Amino acid sequence: MSNPTPSHEAITEALSGVIDPELGRDIVELEMVRSIEVSDAGRVEVVVSLTTPGCPIRGHFEQAVSQRVGAIEGVTEVEVGFDVLSEEEKSGLQEKLGRPKLPQGSLAQVKNVICVASGKGGVGKSTMTANLAAALAAEGKSVGALDCDVYGYSIPRMLGIDGRPEVSADRKIIPLVSPAGPKVISMGFFVESDAAVVWRGPMLHKAIQQFLEDVDWGELDFLLLDLPPGTGDVSMSLAQLLPQAKFVLVTTPQPAAQSVARRSADMAEKVDLEVVGVIENMSAFQSPDGERVAIFGEGGGQILAEEIDVPLLAKVPLETDLREGADEGRPLVVDKPDAPAAQAIRQAARGILAMTPEDLPMMAAPVSGDPPPGPKTPGPGATELPVIQ
Ligand SMILES: Nc1ncnc2c1ncn2[C@@H]1O[C@H](COP(=O)(O)OP(=O)(O)O)[C@@H](O)[C@H]1O
Ligand SMILES: [Mg+2]
Repeated sequence: MSNPTPSHEAITEALSGVIDPELGRDIVELEMVRSIEVSDAGRVEVVVSLTTPGCPIRGHFEQAVSQRVGAIEGVTEVEVGFDVLSEEEKSGLQEKLGRPKLPQGSLAQVKNVICVASGKGGVGKSTMTANLAAALAAEGKSVGALDCDVYGYSIPRMLGIDGRPEVSADRKIIPLVSPAGPKVISMGFFVESDAAVVWRGPMLHKAIQQFLEDVDWGELDFLLLDLPPGTGDVSMSLAQLLPQAKFVLVTTPQPAAQSVARRSADMAEKVDLEVVGVIENMSAFQSPDGERVAIFGEGGGQILAEEIDVPLLAKVPLETDLREGADEGRPLVVDKPDAPAAQAIRQAARGILAMTPEDLPMMAAPVSGDPPPGPKTPGPGATELPVIQ
């Protein structure tokens, strides 16, 4: 007597036991089962749709599907095939997971957007942005730096680059590339030097929108945004344009400054952007005779980090070399990577790496909301997915 032909229903039920380990839901619910075919002889062919062709959990699915479907009565052989979700299906999946829609166009291949923010000017936000960008590039990441400080742009100088970007055949602005690695776009490339530019809210929004949408950023692991100081228009614009962006707050050690930075945190929270960490800049330094000098006081970074419950990524000491490097377009992290300030910034860069999952940016979101334990190595094909959730 031959076995009964296995039903679609039984197979679907078996497949609903196959859990996507990263999303914590089953592949039926996630609508990742593309097709089920059953032949008379009990041979079953299941096609599972992945988010990228090189999906590292492919092997897991292959095994789990074979095992579960193979256990159904009447199944003699299981063939597991794979295809890739269309862009539309990926957006559908994002929405199903309760994540905001991914930006289209130029940012589609940008995995992580990190905004470097502070409540006030002069705390070293641009210095941190430039050096973090260079440090991430030195770690082998592809990095872009977008200078959103349209009033006081300083990223071009700090990353040692000047010029006028060209426009590609498909009318995209091509970023300039810093000798330190990152691709750079700044308002400084588009206005005459030292020209006073008066920006009003809507214009500013438009400029930043254009920098995000009309620049050919290409594939990037990180796009770092140097925000203008304060919590005004730009942040609101960003929240609208980049719901996936994350914030790093820069503060100086004195309590007054951290309460200013706190405002940025409040703002990020209000517009629902996530703060991933705090960098304390201009921290105490060691004088040549070994004395610790805390010009701006101590502890502000730690207080802020604790208050908003995020890690203190680094304490970057006051250091003449850091300023000189910034003035001369040679980021200290590249020029003197072992200098104390460079080490601190590199530590912050590694902290950012640890907190921004890289393989399968869309899929690797921590389901529980806990930060992932450590840096992940990029999976094959990981560059294919858009900005992180
Ligand atoms: N840790 C530091 N040690 C010494 N100089 C610093 C440090 N951080 C920043 N600076 C210098 O302080 C000035 C202001 O920094 P900047 O990055 O332009 O601040 P912001 O972008 O917040 O206005 C710059 O001249 C910069 O080189
Ligand atoms: Mg600045």
